[in-house]
Amino acid sequence: MSNTAPKKLYIKTWGCQMNVYDSRRMADILRPLGYAETDTPEGADMVILNTCHIREKATDKVFSEIGRLEKHKRAKEKSGGKMVMAVAGCVAQAEGDVILNRAKSVDMVFGPQTYHQLPEMMIRATGERVVNTDFPAENKFDSLPTEQNQGSAAFLSIQEGCDKFCTFCVVPYTRGAEYSRDVIAILDEARRLVDQGAKEITLLGQNVNAFHGNAPDGSIWRLGRLMSEMAGIHGLSRLRYMTSHPLDMDEELMAAHRDVPEIMPYLHLPLQAGSDKILKAMNRKHTADDYRRIIDRVRFYRPDISLSSDFIVGFPGETDSDFDDTMNMVAEIGYGSAYSFKYSARPGTPAANMQGLVPEKIKDERLARLQDLIGTKQLEINRRTVGLTLPVLFERPGLRPGQIQGKTPYNQTINVPAPARLIGQIEAVHITEAFTNSVAGDIQVSEFMTKSA
Ligand code: 5AD
Ligand code: SF4
Repeated sequence: MSNTAPKKLYIKTWGCQMNVYDSRRMADILRPLGYAETDTPEGADMVILNTCHIREKATDKVFSEIGRLEKHKRAKEKSGGKMVMAVAGCVAQAEGDVILNRAKSVDMVFGPQTYHQLPEMMIRATGERVVNTDFPAENKFDSLPTEQNQGSAAFLSIQEGCDKFCTFCVVPYTRGAEYSRDVIAILDEARRLVDQGAKEITLLGQNVNAFHGNAPDGSIWRLGRLMSEMAGIHGLSRLRYMTSHPLDMDEELMAAHRDVPEIMPYLHLPLQAGSDKILKAMNRKHTADDYRRIIDRVRFYRPDISLSSDFIVGFPGETDSDFDDTMNMVAEIGYGSAYSFKYSARPGTPAANMQGLVPEKIKDERLARLQDLIGTKQLEINRRTVGLTLPVLFERPGLRPGQIQGKTPYNQTINVPAPARLIGQIEAVHITEAFTNSVAGDIQVSEFMTKSA
């Protein structure tokens, strides 16, 4: 066998943007070791399952995926090769030993805070099964190689972990304590991304607006200050960030939404539930009224901002009247988009031991009603943008042939009939039609001509 051909790396990713980011960085680490990514597990030399533990059945999904992959591993061995099978991410962090015991085909288990040690782990894995679920003292980000080109809309991880301990959530246990990267390292990475063609950067963190990074002037910068500085990078047109906690929406960040045009008028600010009793049981540390006040303040600075949220239905103890509070908040706030989930008990979290479990059937009914209302509101809000001309960053081919797809400043998905050569560009688009989950429009030819002249 030739040893110059690249080895094949297959990564399957579940979960949030942080996991997508981590998967990319794993590929960056393995590239110098001779691995090139493929999109099928067949014949792969290395398979990484980058898992998510946030909601239900995470472990089951991982085991069934391992089962599917075993035949590829056997086929590889029959042809004289070896497929290294690794389980990474939050399920690995939470249930590493269970996985190694139950799935003999798994060679390696590592958590979100140790993947920078992949080169050493690869060497160890030739002779033994490797488990690495520590929270090492050294900084993972300092040891990562330069990132691969991410294209026009890039992601940059600036903060990790969480100290909030919402009672339903595994993140503080799987991702560990809150940690912010240094400002210099973030700005360097941002400049590299822009040099590689990024026009938009989304700053990532489990609790991204809790960011407090060491700055070159010896002080600590919070997110608003960081983004104001980043906005000065030549060639960077758009900044986004997610996910935020209501309590960390400080005045500087809210004001930046008014003062820094590069910060897009979009805010994902999870409310989770509308009832104060449930918010308290969730340990969200604020009331529905506190949330209202924060939204008023955000809108004071940026009246047109599009809001987004996460909701959990059927948290232990949630009555019909508590659920009505959630519905009323959704109707009142008016979200441009929102994600909703049925509560699922996560082992090891405080809510897993709470009384007052809500029957599955009721959770289903509540979820359906909530999603219905969210959809109605989304459509209403999307309709308000019909007739406007908005700058759209095109990222990929569109829904139908001849179309390309992008995002408006309000984070609406938009499909437009236009040539594929405009992918990667920002163009003025006249919004003509609204749907529940997207809008449609036409490129403004005259503005396109003047802008690119
Ligand atoms: N059950 C249901 N939804 C959950 N989320 C987090 N943990 C749980 C859980 N145990 C949801 C929250 C969070 C989003 C990322 O996932 O709404 O904001
Ligand atoms: Fe989980 Fe977010 Fe709460 Fe942190 S703030 S515990 S990440 S839900």
